[in-house]
Amino acid sequence: MENIVLIGFMGAGKTTIGHLLAQKLNTKQHDFDEILVEKIGMSIADYFERFGSESFREVETNVLQQSIQLEGIISTGGGIVLKEENRLFLQENTNVIYLKADLDELIHRVVLDKRNVRPLATSKSHDEIREVYLPRLPLYEESAKYVIDTTKKQPEEIVQEILDKV
Ligand code: S3P
Repeated sequence: MENIVLIGFMGAGKTTIGHLLAQKLNTKQHDFDEILVEKIGMSIADYFERFGSESFREVETNVLQQSIQLEGIISTGGGIVLKEENRLFLQENTNVIYLKADLDELIHRVVLDKRNVRPLATSKSHDEIREVYLPRLPLYEESAKYVIDTTKKQPEEIVQEILDKV
């Protein structure tokens, strides 16, 4: 089977859904944030602070280009669609799935997630997060082959919808 690439905003469930999908399909999950942390040798928050977002996006682009041929489920970071180069790259891939959700629900999930410090969302106001979110919406849409609305759905239901599509 071709790989499945999950894209979407922070809190969309890319890691959680990716993990479940990988279990169900008996394959591997490749999680961008984990790969990135290993590559940069520090937390994403520290990297943003020391080297800035531009530099982070460069590393992220390298990770995308190296990992897209991997077998299994690829859970990307929320900002992967910011570079046009990456969007074009994603469009060429077969199974790119945009996990979409209402902003309120995304914010709720990000706030609940105490494990990850996200420089663009943690300790930010709802308005600040909305400012990051709105311009990205069309970018996720244009990069994905399938869009799955995850609002108010359980992970198992979302996984089944993905399996019905690919
Ligand atoms: C980011 C999303 C994060 C992480 C970094 C930047 C973004 O990944 O890559 O904090 O710009 O949306 P998740 O979407 O997995 O939280």
